Amino acid sequence: MFKNLPASKPDAILEVMRLFAEDAREGKIDLGVGVYRDSAGRTPVMRAVKAAEARLVETQESKGYVGLTGDAAYNQAMGELILGDVVPAERIAASAATGGTGAVRMAMELVRAANPGAQIWISTPTWPNHTVLAAAVGLKVQSYRYYNRAEGVLDRQGMLDDLAQAQKGDVVLLHGCCHNPTGADPSEQDWADIAGFLQERGLVPFVDIAYQGFGEGLDADAAGLRHLASRLERVIVAASAAKNFGLYRERAGLCLVTCPEDERATVTTALGTINRSTVSFPPDHGARVVQTILDDPGLRLDWQEELETMRRRVQSLREALAGALRAETGSDRFGFLAAQKGMFSVLDADGAQIERLRDEHGIYMVPGGRMNVAGLTEDSVPRVAAALGRVLAG
Ligand code: LMR
Repeated sequence: MFKNLPASKPDAILEVMRLFAEDAREGKIDLGVGVYRDSAGRTPVMRAVKAAEARLVETQESKGYVGLTGDAAYNQAMGELILGDVVPAERIAASAATGGTGAVRMAMELVRAANPGAQIWISTPTWPNHTVLAAAVGLKVQSYRYYNRAEGVLDRQGMLDDLAQAQKGDVVLLHGCCHNPTGADPSEQDWADIAGFLQERGLVPFVDIAYQGFGEGLDADAAGLRHLASRLERVIVAASAAKNFGLYRERAGLCLVTCPEDERATVTTALGTINRSTVSFPPDHGARVVQTILDDPGLRLDWQEELETMRRRVQSLREALAGALRAETGSDRFGFLAAQKGMFSVLDADGAQIERLRDEHGIYMVPGGRMNVAGLTEDSVPRVAAALGRVLAG
């Protein structure tokens, strides 16, 4: 039966994880997968998460099934975290999802069911799994330019020129904040222009927001998405609680759709049907932890403070690396690292250079040059800067 099964192509990011785990060298540095690490190199369980879990152990009386779209209180609390109050509850359909990836998949299934002819427009570059998920669902993928590499910023004109080819009803996948992999986000003005452009052409925004709180802060990171949702009738959102709650392995995500009030019930039922045909009920534990934190003022405050500390630390690692590279290379060509947001930036490194960084220096990055700044520590910055200076300049 499996003789003709084609070999699967490994995921580039997970392949880096595997190679890193197999490397026995002391002092190896993982700048691959998008995971936050503290100054000791650990990915901590956040304080509020520990407290919420302890509370759940004490108070939860059943592990019986919840609803097909998950726990309504979680969906509402996450929805508010993401959208604030820009869209009334009657216009929001939502379902808990199996992590951010599950939310992206669910959203794509929804698009395909609602409009099988719709094309999905994806930024170049993007998180590699976006394309894999779209192909798995059978959506036709188109790409749009996103990144001005020379300046380390959004290629706004390239993006709008490419999206001008999109047909009415097509879906445009945007990163809500902390663009993965470039770390280059649209400005407030860019978001306003993008909103006007999509509105004028009847294109549907699909916003993947997986790093809220790691860019400029919880509200600032959602401002672009909120702007879209305040102007357009329909917005699709895939959100993750993996990073900002540190709940990676618990798979807590949310698929949310804003729509006219009379479409809400149909969309909600469709989301439930998608769940039934894939996982039945979305996982609950991580979602319940998130909801417990968001609905308790004390836990919420503590969580926000810890997240803010993480965000500031990533920003200071960015600045430290940019500064060390300035000293190392005598040039400002890595200055973009300090200006970009979130965990990722892309270095101008070819495959051979990425291999040299790995083989000669024990530094792991994703092919294409993506580095996870949150994988650095205060101690590893000088070594990484020296290695980058040597390999990328030489
Ligand atoms: C990443 O981009 O590294 C993360 O989103 C983890 C993943 O699943 O790829």
